[in-house]
Amino acid sequence: MLAPTPTTTRAAELMQLEDQYGAHNYHPLPVVLERGQGTYLWDVAGNQYFDFLSAYSAVNQGHCHPRIIGALTEQAQKLTLTSRAFFNDRLGAAEKQICELFGYDKALLMNSGAEAVETALKLARKWGYQEKGIAPNMARIVVAEHNFHGRTTGIISFSTDPDSTGGFGPYVPGYQVVPYNDIPALEAALQDPHVCAFMVEPIQGEAGVMVPAIGYLAQAAAACRQHNVLFVADEIQTGLGRTGKMLACDHEAVHPDVLILGKALSGGVLPVSAVLADDAIMLTIKPGQHGSTFGGNPLACAVMQAALDVLIDENLAENASRLGIIFRAEMKKLQAQRPELIELVRGKGLLNAVVIKPAADGRTAWDVCVMLMERGLLAKPTHGDIIRFAPPLVITESELREACVLIADVIRAF
Ligand SMILES: Cc1ncc(COP(=O)(O)O)c(C=O)c1O
Repeated sequence: MLAPTPTTTRAAELMQLEDQYGAHNYHPLPVVLERGQGTYLWDVAGNQYFDFLSAYSAVNQGHCHPRIIGALTEQAQKLTLTSRAFFNDRLGAAEKQICELFGYDKALLMNSGAEAVETALKLARKWGYQEKGIAPNMARIVVAEHNFHGRTTGIISFSTDPDSTGGFGPYVPGYQVVPYNDIPALEAALQDPHVCAFMVEPIQGEAGVMVPAIGYLAQAAAACRQHNVLFVADEIQTGLGRTGKMLACDHEAVHPDVLILGKALSGGVLPVSAVLADDAIMLTIKPGQHGSTFGGNPLACAVMQAALDVLIDENLAENASRLGIIFRAEMKKLQAQRPELIELVRGKGLLNAVVIKPAADGRTAWDVCVMLMERGLLAKPTHGDIIRFAPPLVITESELREACVLIADVIRAF
C-alpha cells in the first residue's frame, strides 16, 4: 500500500468548503474521502486507507456491501416512502425477521440511534405508569455515569459529559445517574419504587470502550427483574456482531426487556434504528402516541433485511470474535515494547481501544491518529488519550495483520 498524501489542493478546497459553510460541531481528521469498499476507504487523491472506525460501528458489514446496495437500488426504484398512514409491503416482513432473530414479540422502527433511545425512554415511562402503577409524572429512569446515548435535549439531560450538556439546559427531569459497573449503586437506586427502567450500554463505546466486569450485565438484569424495573440495553454501538456475538448482552446470556439497535442495522447505508420488546411493554403505546415520518419506510426495511442477512450469512460475529483476540494480542505485544506510550489495551470482539499516555513533548492520541492516517489507517481519538480501533467486521485475518504491522510501525516511530 502506498503511503497516502491526503492534503492535495482538492482536499484542501473541500475541507475549506466544509469549514466555511458547515457548522463546526465536529473536529475531523484532515482526510477527504470519496469512496469505500469493504474494509477500505479512498480519499479524493486516490489514496487507500484501512477504515478502523467503521463510522462508529455503523459499517460492520463493510462499505457498500453489494447485497445491501443491491437491496437498496432495487427497492429505491419501486417504493421508498409511504409514511405509516398506510401499510406497505415491506414493513411486516422486516419486523418479523428482526423479532424472530432477537426473540421479541414486537419491533418499532425509527431512523437514528438517538430517536430509538428516545423511543425506549418513552416506552419505559409509559410501561411504568400503565403496568407498574407509578403515580403520574413520577417515573424515574436510572442510567450509568459516562453514558453516551445520543444528542437530543432529552438524552443529554442525563449525560455526565460537560461537552454534551454545557449551554444546552434546562434539562429534562426524571433521571438518576449511578456509576457504571457498580451493582451496589444500582441496587440502591432500584429501591426507589418510582424507577421504571435502567438503561445501559453493555460496553460504553464513546466513553472509550469501557468493558464492565464479567457478570455486571447479568447481575444488573437480575436486580432489575427483582425490583420490577425494565432492563434496557442500548446496543446501538455494541450490537450486530461488533463484540463477537450478535449482541454484547449475549456474552452473559442476558435478554434485555427493551433492546435498542441502530447503526449497523443498515450496514451504514441509511439511518435505520429499532426498539424491540414484548407485547406487555410495546403495546402500552397506542396509535398516534409515537412515530416518525421515515420510521419503517420500505427502503429502510429492504436495506435492514439485507444488512441482517449479511451479518448472519457471513458469520461476522464469529469473525469479530476470532480477529479481536488476534488484534488485542498484537496490541499487547506492542504495549510490552512501548509501555511508556501505551497505557492499556482493552475491548471485546472488534470493538477495541488503546489508551495512549501523553508524550513528554505534549503530543497526544490525536498525533498518533494523524501519523496512522499518513500511513494509511483511519482511526479517531476520543477523550484525548484513547484510540478506538473498530474495523468493519468483514476484515480478513491477513488484512488485520497488515493493519497491526502498520500500527506497530507508527507506535515504534512515535
Ligand atoms: C450507544 C449509543 N447510543 C446512541 C447513539 C446515537 O446514535 P445516533 O448518532 O445514530 O443518533 C450512539 C452513537 O454513537 C451510541 O454509540
